[in-house]
Amino acid sequence: MRRAVVESIGHYLPNRIVENSEFEATLETNDSWIRSRTGIERRHFAAENETTSDMGIKAAQAALANANCTVDDVDAIILATSTADLTFPSAATMVQNGLGMRHGFAFDVQAVCAGFLYALTTANSMIASGQANRILVIGAETFSKLMDWTDRGTCVLFGDGAGAMLISAQHDESSDRGILATALRSDGRYKDILYVDGGISLQTTGYLRMQGKEVFRHAVEKLSAIALETLEKAGLTTEDVDWIVPHQANKRILEGLSKRLRIPMDKVVMTVNNHGNTSAASIPLAMAVGVQNKLIKTGDVVVTGAIGGGLAWGTAVIRW
Ligand code: UT7
Repeated sequence: MRRAVVESIGHYLPNRIVENSEFEATLETNDSWIRSRTGIERRHFAAENETTSDMGIKAAQAALANANCTVDDVDAIILATSTADLTFPSAATMVQNGLGMRHGFAFDVQAVCAGFLYALTTANSMIASGQANRILVIGAETFSKLMDWTDRGTCVLFGDGAGAMLISAQHDESSDRGILATALRSDGRYKDILYVDGGISLQTTGYLRMQGKEVFRHAVEKLSAIALETLEKAGLTTEDVDWIVPHQANKRILEGLSKRLRIPMDKVVMTVNNHGNTSAASIPLAMAVGVQNKLIKTGDVVVTGAIGGGLAWGTAVIRW
């Protein structure tokens, strides 16, 4: 059986770090509210001329370097984003060009905060079916460009960044490493609780709009249910889990998940404090930090899950 195994992970965060206190000058908010209600302390914002594909290229280069690979070894790029540089071509083809890759194929996936799970599931299927042997799966976002800076309920929550994972086909029957199970869901009835009020049909970029409390409620409920379902599909239980790497939207969501899954907080990788919510980049960024800090190690069982606009959500169980 062919299985997709994680070879490496890399990330990139823009230079500009914005502390919570910076918002105090222009908004009726403060560090204490943001910290206590979300766990966020700071976030990175891309420079004016820095795009999603620029960040995707840097994260991909880091993943390739960590695996001692070059683009010649890669068959495809799948990039999850809701903030592509342009309406088209895809940010993935821009990353392909930026990496100097002249073969294979590249495309974007758009499932907002769940985008990385949708991209990873697609890449996993392509590897399992033999369409590709090695794929770069990237999550990259510049959500700072979708913020209404007068809306304190949203603009303090998001950040920019990119993460990239290199996965490849494994044939070794004696190894149990790899992506063990995935699950995806969406429910368009909830399209109005998290959306951008612009787009092609309106000929504007628009701003992110969110009913935070509603999204929060769905997040804990749906992510815990799908995580249990995916673990069962993988033939595992919560007892087998070494790390949960949830979408980094709010520390209280991570705590809610930990409680519902009965997996202690010291097994939850948390980066929301330093990154804010980076949408599709959040999971690969958190995984990269988890590996860098020597938390996630080869052979560990990692459960990852994300939910966002759509609503769209998904999970993956990976033996690292
Ligand atoms: O990535 C996709 C997934 N996204 C999420 O998962 C986000 C989920 N939602 C959340 O994380 C939380 O709901 C928020 C952090 C967005 C909001 O926290 P909350 O505890 O649900 O607060 P709330 O929206 O109910 O607002 C409580 C109060 C309100 O004031 P009143 O009406 O009680 O007077 C808000 O106006 O807090 C106020 N508020 C703020 N105060 C200071 C909202 N934002 C701020 C702020 N600073 N930045």
